[in-house]
Amino acid sequence: MNELQELYREVILDHNRQPRNFGEIENADRVVEGVNPLCGDRMTLYVSLDGEQVRDIRFTGTGCAISVASSSLMTEKAKGHSIDELRTLFDRVHEMLTGDGTEADVDLDEMDKLAALSGVRAYPTRVKCATLAWHALIGAISGSRDRISTE
Ligand code: FES
Repeated sequence: MNELQELYREVILDHNRQPRNFGEIENADRVVEGVNPLCGDRMTLYVSLDGEQVRDIRFTGTGCAISVASSSLMTEKAKGHSIDELRTLFDRVHEMLTGDGTEADVDLDEMDKLAALSGVRAYPTRVKCATLAWHALIGAISGSRDRISTE
């Protein structure tokens, strides 16, 4: 394992051990449940909005280390951003996690800590673990209160 992979691993382990923004938001503006169809693990995302801006965002649920770390990293990044900014971020993260690593690839330096999730790209069954929180986010900012699946 090279130095960068070790750093990514540390970020995942840290956010799994001590998830940021874990818990519910009372009277959240948006509540979305995300389900990974491959394993049945689920998370619930709570979002409070201030106009078009995410004022607060939290999550609950259980899942593997990748899904918990991804939820934690996502909430940490999303807080304070506008809905439009988060749509752009979702596209970039989705490309990072599912892209083929060629010309359309995302600049990992720009992704900051989220780059720690990029390693799942080599493991198709883990991609859904990492994208679960992000699909819930896009569902929440699109106004959904429904169940979201990563399919
Ligand atoms: Fe269930 Fe990863 S194995 S979310």
